[in-house]
Amino acid sequence: MQEKFRSKPEMARNLLSYVLTVVWPNAITWFDVHLRLSSTLVLWREFLRHPSRVGAVLPSSSWLAQAIAATVPLDSQALIVEIGAGTGAVTQALLARGIAPSRLIVVERSSKLCKLLRRRFPYLTVVQGDAAELIRWVGPQDAVCAIVSSLPLRSLPDAVVTAIAAQMHELLDTDGMLVQFTYGWVGASPLQTLGFERYKASWEWRNIPPARIDVLCKA
Ligand SMILES: C[S@@+](CC[C@H](N)C(=O)[O-])C[C@H]1O[C@@H](n2cnc3c(N)ncnc32)[C@H](O)[C@@H]1O
Repeated sequence: MQEKFRSKPEMARNLLSYVLTVVWPNAITWFDVHLRLSSTLVLWREFLRHPSRVGAVLPSSSWLAQAIAATVPLDSQALIVEIGAGTGAVTQALLARGIAPSRLIVVERSSKLCKLLRRRFPYLTVVQGDAAELIRWVGPQDAVCAIVSSLPLRSLPDAVVTAIAAQMHELLDTDGMLVQFTYGWVGASPLQTLGFERYKASWEWRNIPPARIDVLCKA
């Protein structure tokens, strides 16, 4: 009986979250403003605890998130894996673009940010895990057409980046794509020496700080 009463606000929150994310993503409501402020606070706290692991003090802007989401193929039933989802700005853009929640797996290392992601997207698979062990969370038998990464590759140790790249390479389908943004506006992506080839780069100057979006495939 108690369970039943407790589940009502939960259901209302799930419904509101789904409507704001998928049906009406551009709505600016009190709920949205509150969400953005509280998300930024959690990101700050996580940045203070692990600066090199988090690598950003602001969530990705909706411009950057939408530009990243626009690169992901819609005409496939294969999985999309998002790594380092943080506060969920890119996750929201992927869902708003029309990616079915059942096609999306979100991996985030921080337990605090995972908690936030699960509250924000209760209908999604959110895994608290390390991208260096990606195959533990997404089975090698699953077809993965795209990996979307917000990982701060420039501030993570080289050995960690190498381990993560190897896992992404193993998981991705032969013709799959990897999207990675970086605040390094010029120069090669570290992924280009780790089994990937960059075939497209674009810049989003409205983000703070401006960011480059690299789209890569297996070399
Ligand atoms: C630049 S922030 C993500 C920003 C995100 N786009 C947003 O708008 O909030 C990078 C994220 O990668 C996560 N991360 C760092 N290393 C990771 C790892 N090895 N596995 C999974 N997530 C990791 C951090 O916890 C952080 O949330």
